[in-house]
Amino acid sequence: MSYVQTVRQQEIKARLAEQDDKSILRFITCGSVDDGKSTLIGRLLYDAKLIFEDQLANLGRVGTANGKELDLALLLDGLEAEREQGITIDVAYRYFATAKRKFVVADTPGHEEYTRNMVTGASTADLAVVLIDSRRGILPQTRRHSYIASLLGIRNIVLAINKIDLVDFRQQVFDDIVADYNVFAEDLGFTCIQPIPMSASLGDNVIRLSEFTPWYRGPALLDYLETVELGPLELDKPLRFPVQLVMRPNANFRGYAGQVASGRVSVGDAVLVAKSGQCSSVKSIVTQDGNLTSAEEGEAVTLVLSDEVDASRGDMLVSPTARPFVADQFQANVVWFDGNSMKPGRSYILRTENDSVSATVTALKHRVNINSFIREAAKSLRMNEIGVCNISTQSPIAFDAYSENRATGNFIFVDRLTNATVGAGMIDFPLRRADNVHWQATDVSKNARSAMKNQRPAVLWFTGLSGSGKSTIANALERVLHVRGKHTYLLDGDNVRHGLNRDLGFTEEDRVENIRRVAEVAKLMADAGLIVLVSFISPFRDERRMARELMDEGEFFEIFVDTPIEECARRDPKGLYEKAFAGKIANFTGVSSPYEAPNNPELHLHTVGNEPIALALKIDKFLDLRLGEK
Ligand code: ADX
Repeated sequence: MSYVQTVRQQEIKARLAEQDDKSILRFITCGSVDDGKSTLIGRLLYDAKLIFEDQLANLGRVGTANGKELDLALLLDGLEAEREQGITIDVAYRYFATAKRKFVVADTPGHEEYTRNMVTGASTADLAVVLIDSRRGILPQTRRHSYIASLLGIRNIVLAINKIDLVDFRQQVFDDIVADYNVFAEDLGFTCIQPIPMSASLGDNVIRLSEFTPWYRGPALLDYLETVELGPLELDKPLRFPVQLVMRPNANFRGYAGQVASGRVSVGDAVLVAKSGQCSSVKSIVTQDGNLTSAEEGEAVTLVLSDEVDASRGDMLVSPTARPFVADQFQANVVWFDGNSMKPGRSYILRTENDSVSATVTALKHRVNINSFIREAAKSLRMNEIGVCNISTQSPIAFDAYSENRATGNFIFVDRLTNATVGAGMIDFPLRRADNVHWQATDVSKNARSAMKNQRPAVLWFTGLSGSGKSTIANALERVLHVRGKHTYLLDGDNVRHGLNRDLGFTEEDRVENIRRVAEVAKLMADAGLIVLVSFISPFRDERRMARELMDEGEFFEIFVDTPIEECARRDPKGLYEKAFAGKIANFTGVSSPYEAPNNPELHLHTVGNEPIALALKIDKFLDLRLGEK
């Protein structure tokens, strides 16, 4: 989210600079699909005469062709189409200004994907216009979006009770919805909820007060947006300068380029490199248009420091008296966007404003039921669900609590394979246990342990369908290695599931955790100097890669035991396929649960027409070559 904004912010800034002395209100619109979001913005722009001539001409054409009144939503769709060309961003920001104030509205289109877009738009918004269809009242989407708005730090809500014309402008309908909403929103921390009865399509109470709602004593929408009090400017926040790029055009110049995420920085100020704690001071503030004496939130500059310090992309230059957290474990609220649910134990890329690291959710503490706000136990987060998670990153990141600083307290999760943004998070706090648990150095090393065994440790990872022959081949190979005096251990799925993983079943989430645990065990065994044979279906590429990345370079060998499912079913050593085909076993791999074949295994074995012992000897030979002194 912030990732995208960095680019946009500058464009917005340029537009807004034209009318510099006015305050800026940033807002979003949200609600259910048909509540009239686009129509409302269209109406606002149209009635306030903020629509460009050419767009109006377009609207007119569409209007006459269909013989209908102007379709204001079309206006936005038109703008959308323009924006889609060449700009890959899911949020369109619109700028407009009245005599009193400047506005940036994040128009967040999309239906299914709305939550993703809304989170992106909301993370910089001061206010949310929550649209409600008078005929339908508060819907799950209303609750979800209000909850997300609250999570994202929005404190001002306009409750736009829309389509009031369709309920004959009845005050009772309005009052009932307001009462319902106030009860529901009680704990969401909004400082101001302004309900307005409205008809976006007819214009009632949008720009001007409507004669049809004489019972309504409040302001029209635009009037309210122009006058609602905004929080104080946050320039007195501590300096946060995420380093995007280290500029070294020549040996004499080293500058740190980025955008001031919060606070202000002046020449001569002391700054500290968040991750290393090194101190320096600002020697100069360089921009394309010459040097500055100071820069503040939103400005993109290059900072030159008085001392050589070690800061790279991903680090932050900060105020020495108010340091951010630097940790590799923390708790966060996570909103999930993707059709593939979030699974604890799976590895994602976590991206902050400027950093990017591997991360896993180590625990999903609870999911929030958006109707009751009750914390529910859950094993995964599905699309549009929200939960509180413990997260562990591969290396420490610098961050603030989101409640303290929206810019440096948020992150997104990116899927490693598809590169899609699959979730967003707001950090609560670092986990203290991370501070209190340190790596304990031991005197006898992995090298010493394996040297004594006269072998190089290895992890031989057998993957394949149930009944493909993994365990049979692994067992034969272990016999061969044992006879040769090698120190081995065979971790077998069925066996480990009797003990360590007794609590796990066969849902996707449980399989992810199954593999995470066994990979950790294999790592410990390799650390002990053993040759570890792991025989698990391990159906997902992501977890096999995670296992690979856990091990030392050159230590992990993926062995694909490739047997067509028809053959596995014919062999059916445990009678499971028969049951699975009869629908008596749920989530059976290859039948009712996927198997993702390896793309580049170190060894690809075809079992049909080959004896297990022959295949075991083939692996043994392969290891001989790869591990050298075996
Ligand atoms: S994994 O998918 O999580 O890696 P694992 O290798 O631990 O699976 O366990 C697979 C073994 O569990 C199979 O060989 C089979 O004996 C048994 N099993 C029981 N139910 C299932 C199921 N639904 N899918 C696959 N295997 C199952």
